[in-house]
Amino acid sequence: MSGLSLHKKFEENSALLIFGILAVSAIGGLVQLVPILNQDSLDTASENSQLYNALELTGRDIYIREGCSTCHSQQVRPLIAEVERYGPYSRADEFVYDRPFLWGSKRTGPDLHRVGGKFSDAWHRLHLIDPRAVVAESIMPAYPWLARRPASATGNIAAKLTALRRLGHPYTDEDIAGAEQALEGQLEIDALIAYLQSLGTAQDYSGG
Ligand code: HEC
Repeated sequence: MSGLSLHKKFEENSALLIFGILAVSAIGGLVQLVPILNQDSLDTASENSQLYNALELTGRDIYIREGCSTCHSQQVRPLIAEVERYGPYSRADEFVYDRPFLWGSKRTGPDLHRVGGKFSDAWHRLHLIDPRAVVAESIMPAYPWLARRPASATGNIAAKLTALRRLGHPYTDEDIAGAEQALEGQLEIDALIAYLQSLGTAQDYSGG
């Protein structure tokens, strides 16, 4: 069969054409997917991987619930402008315990992957309750209710740790047994601040 008649066959038969299009575009998908499935650095813990404690994990859930990632990314790309602004670029193994990933794709506000330790807890508290109190021109929404609700209201923390342990996060029996207690007396805002302060601090990258 000549090349021309094969071409004609595809053009005249729409089912065959659709199949052909799917087969060709699948190659593009596989080129992206297959290497990731075989790349251990994405799910192998290292000294850069930091397990969230009960309070931080609760804060992370609040971050997801409040939609913080619609305005904030958590990925410093290896570009000079980003590294100078935010700090060392993000490594794959820093996200091993992030389920789901919160890399985000929208930066209405600054990237937060290296925000841990950048501000004091008191600054974050003021900023979350009323962003304009500390950054006059801020367009970030205020989250005053976080300072009224107990951290334990976000769900059964022991069950969350147990579920994550099943997925391979190395929580101990003591972590799970003490989870409820770790939230005692803490408000949602305390949990969220603990989470923010933990971001990107697994390793000291100050050497470069
Ligand atoms: C509508 C978009 C928007 C949403 C939603 C939003 N932010 Fe922001 N955020 C901003 C903007 C803009 C700034 C920069 C001005 C400022 O500091 O307030 C900012 C700044 C910040 C900063 C300071 C970062 C730095 O390095 O200066 C932190 C921390 C922060 N946001 C946390 C949060 C958290 C936590 C949430 C969810 C509870 C949240 N943001 C939701 C827009 C947003």
